[in-house]
Amino acid sequence: MQALKDKIKGEGKVLSDTVLKVDSFLNHQIDPQLMKEIGQEFADLFQKAEVTKIVTIESSGIAPATMAGLIMDIPVVFARKRKSLTLSKNLYTARVHSFTKNETNEISVSGDFIQPNDVVLIIDDFLANGQAVLGLIDIIKQAGADLAGVGIVIEKGFQSGGELLREQGIRVESLAIVSSLQNGEVVFAKGEQTE
Ligand code: G4P
Repeated sequence: MQALKDKIKGEGKVLSDTVLKVDSFLNHQIDPQLMKEIGQEFADLFQKAEVTKIVTIESSGIAPATMAGLIMDIPVVFARKRKSLTLSKNLYTARVHSFTKNETNEISVSGDFIQPNDVVLIIDDFLANGQAVLGLIDIIKQAGADLAGVGIVIEKGFQSGGELLREQGIRVESLAIVSSLQNGEVVFAKGEQTE
């Protein structure tokens, strides 16, 4: 998706060989126009998948997921990382370990919001090692729902998540795949435009 790649090139900051900061449009400040285009892209990609629900994880997955949900006219559910005061019974939970942050969170979704007849599209902002997506897939399986696929805004192609999911036959659509962050430069995956 060219507009996203241009934005990453223009505003992304390479913090290290493995971390890309995109606080100005995705992880802190949100660019609603770009999010709308991202939502449209996901809607187009999964148009034929008969998706009934989008599932994401708080916090940065919520903006792109909501835009996709608006365009696809389906509800959006976000997994919580902290226990909610009002969320206690009938919960699906999964443990998600972040290698980046070296912490484990228990994520949860109320059983009220994923049904066995749902066809779920997972959307998230970053795909690194794939642990968050695997946790969401675990929850979708617990609910007995079907998985249509996974939509990712930025995949870090040099980390293992994409391969881990695709080798399981899961459809993963990433709008930008970064193949390297070395020497302070963002390089997109082969076949993707770099400028
Ligand atoms: P994984 O799920 O693919 O295994 O990812 P990982 O544990 O490595 O990532 C943990 C958190 O760090 C996630 O956000 C993820 O989106 C974010 N993250 C991973 N790599 C990058 C990166 O290069 N740049 C940025 N900006 N974020 C990255 P989170 O903790 O859930 O945060 P948030 O959604 O509340 O913002």
